[in-house]
Amino acid sequence: IERTFSMIKPDATKRNLTGAITKIFEENGLRVVASKRVWMARREAEAFYAEHKERPFFGELVDFMSSGPTIVQVLEGENAIAKNREIMGATNPEKADEGTIRKLFALSMGENSVHGSDAPETAAREIGFWFSETEIVG
Ligand code: GTP
Ligand code: MG
Repeated sequence: IERTFSMIKPDATKRNLTGAITKIFEENGLRVVASKRVWMARREAEAFYAEHKERPFFGELVDFMSSGPTIVQVLEGENAIAKNREIMGATNPEKADEGTIRKLFALSMGENSVHGSDAPETAAREIGFWFSETEIVG
């Protein structure tokens, strides 16, 4: 059994899509074992996305991620990391497959409704960034 880190981004919380997105996780065999609503500070967004700091969209990304509430979650299930990436769909919603979260809900490359860890090492770092071990209840 594997764990991954997920975020429901501000464009989605603003449109009241927290339940709809969480339902898709659950329908696909992922269990929410930790969840909280956070309005991240710019500094937190910069630290969380540090790997992207040289990218041209970094400023926009940090502005957006600190523009409203986000739901940070730990999802657990068989192959949770790959499964979640598959359910989310491509970063660019125009390229996302039918039925994926981003195809259904994303507004643009930036406002793309969800984040999911892309590898075991990033999942461990991202879970540890937002949660302590006692907040995760499997
Ligand atoms: P995450 O699950 O959020 O990491 O998405 P990803 O792995 O599909 O994309 P990537 O790691 O390449 O980029 C991280 C995030 O930066 C994306 O989810 C987008 O929100 C944002 N992003 C990527 N490319 C662009 C862009 O061209 N413009 C803007 N504004 N944001 C972008
Ligand atoms: Mg990524």
